[in-house]
Amino acid sequence: MTSNPNSILLTGGAGYIGSHTYVALVEAGYNPVILDDFSNSHPAVLARLERITGRPVVCERRDVADTAFVQAMLQRHAVAAVVHFAGFKSVGESVAQPLKYYRNNVGGMVSLLQAMDAANCRTLVFSSSATVYGDPASVPITEDFPTSHTNPYGHTKLVCEDMLAALRTANPAWQVGVLRYFNPVGAHPSGLIGEDPSGIPNNLMPYVAQVAVGRRPCLNVYGNDYATPDGTGVRDYIHVQDLAQGHVAASQALLDDGEGGDSFTVNLGTGKGHSVLDVVRAFEQASGRPVPYQIMPRRQGDVAQCYADPALAQRLLGWRATHSLADMCADAWRWQSQNPEGYE
Ligand code: WQD
Repeated sequence: MTSNPNSILLTGGAGYIGSHTYVALVEAGYNPVILDDFSNSHPAVLARLERITGRPVVCERRDVADTAFVQAMLQRHAVAAVVHFAGFKSVGESVAQPLKYYRNNVGGMVSLLQAMDAANCRTLVFSSSATVYGDPASVPITEDFPTSHTNPYGHTKLVCEDMLAALRTANPAWQVGVLRYFNPVGAHPSGLIGEDPSGIPNNLMPYVAQVAVGRRPCLNVYGNDYATPDGTGVRDYIHVQDLAQGHVAASQALLDDGEGGDSFTVNLGTGKGHSVLDVVRAFEQASGRPVPYQIMPRRQGDVAQCYADPALAQRLLGWRATHSLADMCADAWRWQSQNPEGYE
């Protein structure tokens, strides 16, 4: 199959990170197409993407586990590279339903890789996570830190990374960019697309946004007795727009390298840590709304501090995050206030 160098398949492209990456790829001159089964995303996002980009969105509704369908789609669109977002990502849910996570996240990756190999498309950007670092011995974190898992979700990310390494050993024609996300937050500046978790948000920023907009009465702050400046957990929050640009840079690097080009694993973070209370204050500043909170016991599995050393991504990809925490909160608030009930 001769591929079109601009044609990129986004599995899970209707999701939070996927939809923002779709916009960034279009703006960079690529021709992304979306594969999504909408098991953890909203069809309504497609019309929003058309409004933002001013062009029709090509989206095919299927589970990535349908290997034959994925292979045919890769051939139909002459895909040159795949960005693999499709996967479940709730730590808590993975503890309660491990098989659902192994089947979808690991089984889905096996199916995708088989389809890509059969279609002679061997260039992949993989959405991994800082959760593979477990509880780091120190911060900031570099890519050579030891990896471990403390929950099935994190284990699925590690297993997928190991599978990709084994595949590259078996066939060096594979080119793989592994992107370890820290804490993605914020929204496209239009306010048309953003983070819309189903049910009660697990993550801090969407919960804070829902308190500010009046959907929830109060934020539970899980622990203020950590060895951090104000006792609350410290994380590396990264604007989803910066994250999307990281995917553009990674795709560009792999496609420009040509077959057998260098593969890489990089952290996508800002290199700065912010506490829970830093986020609360920044969000109140950005929204002009109070975010009442109460201190609760620590959440099981949480670590005190986790933030990146992003130097390798800058060196290899010429990428670095540019948005501040204030930018993240302002854009998250615009999305939440314009869409109080999300995409519904
Ligand atoms: C951040 C901080 C909490 C909610 C997880 C996954 C990771 C990635 C991002 C997918 C912590 C505190 C949170 C709340 C709180 N997901 N918090 N009240 O746990 O760093 O990372 O999401 O890739 O893989 O592990 O993110 O936003 O849940 O928590 O006090 O209602 O906010 O204790 O300190 P986390 P988070």
